[in-house]
Amino acid sequence: MLSWEYGNSTENGIGKSNGISNGYGIGNGYVNGHGIGNEHGNGNGDVYGNGKVNGEKVKKMKPMDSEMLREQGHIMVDFIADYYKNLEDSPQDFPVLSQVQPGYLRDILPDSAPDHPEPLKELLHDVSKKIIPGLTHWQSPSYFAYYASSTSVAGFLGEMLNAGLSVVGFTWLASPAATELEVIVLDWLAKLLQLPDHFLSTGNGGGVIQGTGCEAVLVVVLAARDRIMKKVGKNSLSQLVVYASDQTHSSFRKACLIGGIHEENIRLLKTDSSTNYGMPPKSLEEAISSDLAKGFIPFFICATVGTTSSAAVDPLFPLGKIAESYGIWMHVDAAYAGNACICPEFREHIDGVEKADSFNINAHKWLFANQTCSPLWVKDRYSLINALKTNPEYLEYKVSKREEVVNYKDWQISLSRRFRSLKLWMVLRLYGAENLRNFIREHVNLAKHFEDCVAQDAHFEVVTTRYFSLVCFRLAPIDGDEDKCNDQNRELIATVNSTGKIFISHTALSGKFILRFAVGAPLTEEKHVTEAWQIIQKHATKFIHNKKN
Ligand SMILES: Cc1ncc(COP(=O)(O)O)c(C=O)c1O
Repeated sequence: MLSWEYGNSTENGIGKSNGISNGYGIGNGYVNGHGIGNEHGNGNGDVYGNGKVNGEKVKKMKPMDSEMLREQGHIMVDFIADYYKNLEDSPQDFPVLSQVQPGYLRDILPDSAPDHPEPLKELLHDVSKKIIPGLTHWQSPSYFAYYASSTSVAGFLGEMLNAGLSVVGFTWLASPAATELEVIVLDWLAKLLQLPDHFLSTGNGGGVIQGTGCEAVLVVVLAARDRIMKKVGKNSLSQLVVYASDQTHSSFRKACLIGGIHEENIRLLKTDSSTNYGMPPKSLEEAISSDLAKGFIPFFICATVGTTSSAAVDPLFPLGKIAESYGIWMHVDAAYAGNACICPEFREHIDGVEKADSFNINAHKWLFANQTCSPLWVKDRYSLINALKTNPEYLEYKVSKREEVVNYKDWQISLSRRFRSLKLWMVLRLYGAENLRNFIREHVNLAKHFEDCVAQDAHFEVVTTRYFSLVCFRLAPIDGDEDKCNDQNRELIATVNSTGKIFISHTALSGKFILRFAVGAPLTEEKHVTEAWQIIQKHATKFIHNKKN
């Protein structure tokens, strides 16, 4: 059942189990007679050209044929809609954590690309039989691992429109609406988050949609590095130091290394349960003083609101005051939890953001904007532009240097860029802020429900204070034996995830192996959370039984 062969459907789409016919909607497209593949042999938009080879008419392919797009696009939408429907209705056919073994795909796909077109029908058949079994179903209602990758109909339609229009707005001229919509939508979102005015495009700052949180932190490290090196001289790279907590996402270290910051100058300040794993301002102050005394040049602090391990919150206000007093750039990584701050009741977690130089959220994590969409706001857009601008002749145009003209190529690493603001705009318009707030509140309430379940079972413990939709918990240690406790929790998560019924993840906090239960998938309801808890409890009985002995 868990191999790639599960699903067992038959060619005509009336499968024995729920694989293709019931499962992924191929039946909707083909069985009901769209007839793809019949007209020209493969249905992929071949048109007959005038030339002949060996007396045969030469087929000329038209890669973007509007009628073919209409026809095959409908089939694809049906396929995807059925996927979502079946994730809900037939969870037994979709192990949340894929159960395939490494290399499984090479064994079942040909060694080389086809010389001739193949029908969409065959391709979707392969998706159902060969690809979907190798997917971990991030959109399953029983997905509780890492942080979610939240999708929505609006986000999906936005992605579709983006793919369809396929403009490349690297400069304003390259697609004025792509640039202008991004400026406007990020101002909208900044207002929903109650960000200070200096992050708006009407001031010196502004927003840009990066692909990911990793790209966001990289560009601001480069901007801050450029700013400090202009001040202290370009030979000072080896003296530059950066600060973050030991809970900071690994992308920060990577960004620093790409930016030429010496590894030994990356200070990851220790955290523990006394601050619920938030960065202690005192440690920061001490580290900066000590570095200054040794001749180092502190220039960057990465604070996090909602760390990856435990959704810890660094106290922005005191950290920001320190950053301000030393002239250090403070970046706030709020990739996951920042999204919740559109709700007034969670906004306090980013109090102090007014002291930051940059702020980032991943709207693809928890704002229903589909992969990928990572809005970044900076207080001073010129610091970013000065660090990243390029001006090749072939991109010059008449008004390119006008103040009000934004050329987003100068706010990011790559030149080409997707029209991501389209889907954010669609998410904001098609749901409205109040619905988005309620989606988030619902997830937080579900996490609270799970937390209550854990708290009521004496064999388990909740490990950190929960602020958002992540619960950190574990089987409690027996007689204070932490090593045994770690082993048991390791075994528990492996067993639970191998059922395919749910997927949770883990982390380590103060040397303890911790289980993470993160709510955020768009289809999750209370029954899924309750069921997840029952599965965890059921598989824990083994250890609980041992405890009594
Ligand atoms: C706090 C935090 N920052 C940054 C990232 C990296 O985001 P991305 O995967 O978009 O690069 C993550 C990913 O989970 C995260 O949790």
